Amino acid sequence: MLTNIYWKSWVDDSMELLHYIFHHRDVVSPQDHSRLLELCEEFEFPEYNTPEPDHNYHIKGYRSHVVLEPEDGEIFRLIHKAHLRIMPKIYEDYPETLPTDIYDKYSGYWLCKYPEGGYLSKHADIDGDAGSVTISYNINDDYDGGELCFWDEHDVEKHANSMHVSPSNHLFMHEVKPVTKGTRYSVITWFSYQKGKQWLI
Ligand SMILES: [Fe+2]
Repeated sequence: MLTNIYWKSWVDDSMELLHYIFHHRDVVSPQDHSRLLELCEEFEFPEYNTPEPDHNYHIKGYRSHVVLEPEDGEIFRLIHKAHLRIMPKIYEDYPETLPTDIYDKYSGYWLCKYPEGGYLSKHADIDGDAGSVTISYNINDDYDGGELCFWDEHDVEKHANSMHVSPSNHLFMHEVKPVTKGTRYSVITWFSYQKGKQWLI
């Protein structure tokens, strides 16, 4: 009979995986950041909805999101600037495992708005390449709840204008916990080498 033998407990393993999640604060200047906040508040988001189930993701949630295009103007440019700034750090953070050529594909910038009661259930980002990374850009922090949480037990510290980078694969299960007060704005993006849209470098 086939038996699974676990080398360590899941918790021990996840503690080691934590070393592959990186956090960066003060991503754009205070001026750019306050402008970005204004633009998020003015942005005309679609209705809040529950994600459509597809073959990659079996998630539940409640939020509004839009995939930004260059035609969206200033908000696209500021978010793009933030990601250009963080890209060299990503290569520093994963020095031995990333190819040497630059990521030139991406998922698009998914601008998300979570109202009170908004959330995204536990899942892993598995629709990029094997060498993809996911960036969660937390734009504001003036809300309660809404933590980005890995493996049910590791809440990412909440800071406005901060980015959180993790490998986009099935080991890195995460969720956005329910927002209990206020509105949460974030941008989710994965970067890749083969899949996705051409990234505008
Ligand atoms: Fe995700």
